[in-house]
Amino acid sequence: MERETRRFVEEHPRSSLLFDRARASLLGGVPMNWMVRWSGPFPLFVREARGAHFTDVDGHRYLDLCLGDTGAMTGHSPEPVAEAVAAQVRRGITFMLPTEDAIVVGEELKRRFGLPFWQIAMTATDANRFAIRLARGITGRRLVLVFNGCYHGTVDETFISLSNGATVRKKSSFGPPVDPALTTRAIEFNDVPALEKALLPRDVACVLAEPAMTNVGMILPDPGYHDALREITRRTGTLLVIDETHTICAGPGGYTAAHGLLPDMLTIGKPIAGGVPAAAYGVSGDLAERAAAGIRVEDSDVSGIGGTLSGNALALAAMRAALERVLTPEFYHRTIPLAERFVAGVEETIRSSGLPWHVVRLGNRAEYQFRPTPPRNGSEAEAAMDLDLDRLLHLYCLNRGILMTPFHNMALIAPDTTPEDIDSHTRTFAEAVRELCG
Ligand SMILES: Cc1ncc(COP(=O)(O)O)c(C=O)c1O
Repeated sequence: MERETRRFVEEHPRSSLLFDRARASLLGGVPMNWMVRWSGPFPLFVREARGAHFTDVDGHRYLDLCLGDTGAMTGHSPEPVAEAVAAQVRRGITFMLPTEDAIVVGEELKRRFGLPFWQIAMTATDANRFAIRLARGITGRRLVLVFNGCYHGTVDETFISLSNGATVRKKSSFGPPVDPALTTRAIEFNDVPALEKALLPRDVACVLAEPAMTNVGMILPDPGYHDALREITRRTGTLLVIDETHTICAGPGGYTAAHGLLPDMLTIGKPIAGGVPAAAYGVSGDLAERAAAGIRVEDSDVSGIGGTLSGNALALAAMRAALERVLTPEFYHRTIPLAERFVAGVEETIRSSGLPWHVVRLGNRAEYQFRPTPPRNGSEAEAAMDLDLDRLLHLYCLNRGILMTPFHNMALIAPDTTPEDIDSHTRTFAEAVRELCG
C-alpha cells in the first residue's frame, strides 16, 4: 500500500496541488463529501471524459469502470445527449411549464416499465422520497420496510442497520432527524418468513427494494423471492416500490421488465438522462387515482412532493435522447458480453490463485466479493467486506490506468468499452493477486 501510495502521489502533482488549493474554499477540499472516498490521499481532478475513458489534469488517461457510480453508465457525454442538451440549452432551461419532450419521456417510461403514470424528479434520492410520501399518504400508514444493507440515496428512513433483529440507526448516519425505529422496519433480503412477519401487522406503507441489491456488494434474489414479495405485499395492503436506479443495468426495462415484476411504484435516476441530473417515478393507475384524490390542486406546491427544477426542459431533452437513442436494446447487446468477458477474466484469476472470492454479474454490472459464494443478504455481504483490501486493489488499478467504483469492487461497462479494455483489467487484477499471494 505504501509503494502504491507513493507512486500515486509522484504521478499526480497537479491533482495534489489542486486539492491543496480546494481545501481553502471547499469543505473537505471537494464539492461533495463522497469525493474524498477514493483510495489515494487526494482525488484525481478530471480534465475531460468521453465514452468509457477520462483524462486527469496530469495528463493520464483512464479506463472508467466506475462511470460516476452509474450516473454515466451510458458512457461520458453520449453524442445524442450532448446534441439534445446543446440545442435545448439555447431554447430555455427551466420554465416550471412542460415541454413536449415530457410526453415522449412519459410514454417511453410507460412502455418500458409497465406503469401507466410518471413524474420527474432531479435525483433518485428525490424520487424515492416522493414515492415514500405517496405511499404514506395513500395508505395512511407510517412505516417503510427496507432491507439490511440497502442504499436508496440520502433518504432518512433508509439509514438503518439490523442489530439482533432490531432496526437501529446506521452507525454512519450523521444527524438523523428521529430514531429510525419510528419510521422503518428492516429485515434481511431473501428471508420470506421475516417478510411475512414484518408485514402482517399491516402498518407498513411500502416496501422499498432494489430488485437485486447492489450497494452492499451484489445480492441476487433467490428463485421465487420476488413472487413471495409481491404476494405478501398484496395480501397485507402494502405497496411495493422497486428502485431500478442501478438495476437498469439488467436491460432497457431494468430488472422489472426482464423478470416480469409488477410493482405499484418504480423509481429510477442516475443514467436515465445520460449523466444530466434527472430521475423519474412511476405509479399504477389505482395509485394515481388515490393520490389525485388526496392532493388538492391548490396545495400541489406545498404537498411535500415535487420541486422547482424537477421536470425542467433541459433534463427532459436529455432524458428523451438517452431513452430513444442511447439506452436501447443495442446498448445491452454490446455491453453485456463485455461484462461477461470481465467476469470470465476475474473468475480465472480467482480459480487459479485459489482465493476464497467470487464474482457476480447483473447485465453490464459486475462485482467481485471477498467470500467464496454469493451472499444472500446484507449481513453476509457486510461480513465479507475488507476496506484495506478494497483500497489496495483500487489504488493498484488506478496506478495502472483503471478506475474501479469506490465503496465496493464494482465494474460497469459502457458501450465504448472495448474487449482490450476488459483484458487490461484482467491482466492488472491477475498481477495484483499474484503480488498479494506472494
Ligand atoms: C439504488 C439506488 N437508489 C437511489 C440512489 C440515489 O441516487 P442519487 O444519489 O443520484 O440521488 C442510489 C445511489 O447510489 C442507489 O444506488
